[in-house]
Amino acid sequence: MAHKLILTEVTDCNGDGKTDIADVEWLIRNDKNVLTKLRNGSFDSKECVALLEEADIVVTNPPFSRFRDFVALLMKHNKKFLIIGNLNAVTYKEIFPLFKDNRVWYGPSISSGDRKFYVPDDYELRAAGCGVDDKGRRYIRVKGVRWFTNLDHGRRHQPLKLMPMADNLKFSKHKEVRGKAAYDRYDNYDAIEVPYTDAIPADYTGVMGVPVTFLDKYCPEQFEIIDAREVALYDKQKGKNTYLIKDADGTIGGKPTYARICIRKKQ
Ligand SMILES: C[S@@+](CC[C@H](N)C(=O)[O-])C[C@H]1O[C@@H](n2cnc3c(N)ncnc32)[C@H](O)[C@@H]1O
Repeated sequence: MAHKLILTEVTDCNGDGKTDIADVEWLIRNDKNVLTKLRNGSFDSKECVALLEEADIVVTNPPFSRFRDFVALLMKHNKKFLIIGNLNAVTYKEIFPLFKDNRVWYGPSISSGDRKFYVPDDYELRAAGCGVDDKGRRYIRVKGVRWFTNLDHGRRHQPLKLMPMADNLKFSKHKEVRGKAAYDRYDNYDAIEVPYTDAIPADYTGVMGVPVTFLDKYCPEQFEIIDAREVALYDKQKGKNTYLIKDADGTIGGKPTYARICIRKKQ
């Protein structure tokens, strides 16, 4: 059963001399106007959309299976938001163009590994990495998540520190780059293959295929994201409605590469 919680003011309701979360709990228990049941509760129901319209900022962990619809609703209503989503969601054809056009980006505080999420006391702790912390709060660990947001933050404006192409070819810590005469080129996209974000050549002005995790470091003043179809060399690729080079779509010497985002240095 979904509920709506409306809090406009929290004072020292329980009279313990402090104003804190215990007063919120007191209000939920004792003030019947604070917590009420929703008729349906689905985020796209009339009742929830009316609440959404009132909101300045939406902060939540939406159902991953409805991520596309949830983001579409936020965009339609022109909302500011900070929501958790799976890393793969960025490759959806509905989501990637929002990143490409700098209308959505990752939030700053999650960029690798897994994250702890507190769960209710009756939540079954089954998956690996679950546990109870030293305050007795139960948590699960969720892998591969990011904040998706349209709230600006400082980290996304810090350019990546990168070496020029010649230095990468000489000194890169990656054996796929070091010691080569040149970066590989795709057979079917007019771009060079850059297998690691830290191997992006600072002085290259053409299009580069970079790992999807580049978005953790993406600074829109430093690079622009290109629709991969613009640099596709064959009609078959051009017709694909993917915006990025999907897993195994790009090939080098006939060998498929991983999913790649096409970027170009800002002039
Ligand atoms: C990723 S989980 C987040 C859980 C939440 N953060 C919590 O702590 O309970 C997504 C939640 O969305 C709920 N959900 C699924 N479909 C929904 C819908 N159409 N409208 C609103 N919530 C939905 C699921 O039941 C689930 O609790």
